[in-house]
Amino acid sequence: MKITVIGHGYVGLVTAAVFADLGNSVYVVGRTAEKIENLNKGIIPIYEPGLEELVKQGLSAKRLHFSLEYDPYVSESDIVFIAVGTPPKSSGEADLSTVLEVAKKIGTHLNGYTVVATKSTVPVGSNKMIARILAENKDSKAKFDTASVPEFLREGSAIHDTLNPDRIVIGTKSQRAQDLLITLHKPINSRFVLCNLETAEMIKYAANSFLATKISFANAIAKLSEKVSADALSVLEGIGYDKRIGNEFLLPGAGYGGSCFPKDVKALIAISKQHGYDFALLSEVENINKEARHDIVKKAVKMLGEVQGKKIGILGLAFKPNTDDMRNAPSIDIIASLSKMGATIKVYDPQGAENAKKIIQGATFCKDSYEVAENADLLIILTEWNEFKEINLAKIKEKMREPKILDGRNIYDPEEIKELGFVYQGVGRA
Ligand code: UDX
Repeated sequence: MKITVIGHGYVGLVTAAVFADLGNSVYVVGRTAEKIENLNKGIIPIYEPGLEELVKQGLSAKRLHFSLEYDPYVSESDIVFIAVGTPPKSSGEADLSTVLEVAKKIGTHLNGYTVVATKSTVPVGSNKMIARILAENKDSKAKFDTASVPEFLREGSAIHDTLNPDRIVIGTKSQRAQDLLITLHKPINSRFVLCNLETAEMIKYAANSFLATKISFANAIAKLSEKVSADALSVLEGIGYDKRIGNEFLLPGAGYGGSCFPKDVKALIAISKQHGYDFALLSEVENINKEARHDIVKKAVKMLGEVQGKKIGILGLAFKPNTDDMRNAPSIDIIASLSKMGATIKVYDPQGAENAKKIIQGATFCKDSYEVAENADLLIILTEWNEFKEINLAKIKEKMREPKILDGRNIYDPEEIKELGFVYQGVGRA
């Protein structure tokens, strides 16, 4: 099939690379000349394991192309995917301006029959709006159907998730569009959820909000476990074996960040409000998440006594491992609070440093964990990179002024680490 993908962020680029890998001709349209030039050379703007290789394969097989132009790709395509950003406005609502702008441009280039499918996370009703814009801007002979095909990939395992999804959601009222999208996705072995546009739009928000709720529930259980001398990790393992609950996304720690959960929880609260429903459960999910970050700061203060003049080392800046993405990373707030209290901060992240330098001020960026540990009074783990699980803790202890570890992602065994002579504090551990 011929496919055009508008947008080359995580969703657009991964979708394009995977569909090219599956044998389709894929055109990716962007709006920044430098990025498109780089992409055509196989240089990708994000760190995502395996993606650069897949893009390079697509380029050399001539199945993947990057362009600044809609013409002639949109008019020649069977399916056009909209995969541009929907950042939150100050009200929490998703900002649809780029999606609507893109819809207008797609409309003017439609030719023959085309399915216009949205991958961007958009509020309920947006695809109807997109259909209206397409209809207003298209040539009278051009025919189209709209569909909502939400994306559930996780950063850091995006290619694996796209090739092995738990389900593929196709929301459309058109049988022809549904059939075409099923044909495109057939090589991906998964089950289909076939529904209308609004249902597909809701599924995406409901999925992300539910996962965020699980994480906040885990953080609330962790908080209570500390108070009653229970071990939250065992409590959560104990409930997770119940298939009705499931053991994923139950890890307590510094809370959720990233480009999706914070934005989508906010957007669902805003959508609910617009429709006269107060989704108070989700407001509490947000509060618990904020508290999870704040609790790391409170624990640091308790472990240090006085923060003023102390040296704190931070291991991990990205919002999760295997990405260089710093959007809404807990590290940003935690470092800002500790700096404000007068601590000197040294940081290290295996991939996130470049992006972090643009956001985090006043911290010293180090080349590795050992440099961070040099003369530190406290080490705080904020991202669970495998590298940190394997560091030489005896060497770290030698370098530190005070051997204290605040493990914001529970990556170490408290008993083992105490035996090494560290003062240790995790999240939810008795
Ligand atoms: C998420 C969804 O998982 C994905 O389906 C959707 O398409 C986009 O949003 P992503 O943001 O890439 O993906 O990362 P994810 O692995 O979900 O982690 C999000 C945040 O939750 C991270 O900050 C992570 O550290 C945190 N998290 C995750 C926890 O704190 N505890 C957990 O148990 C799981």
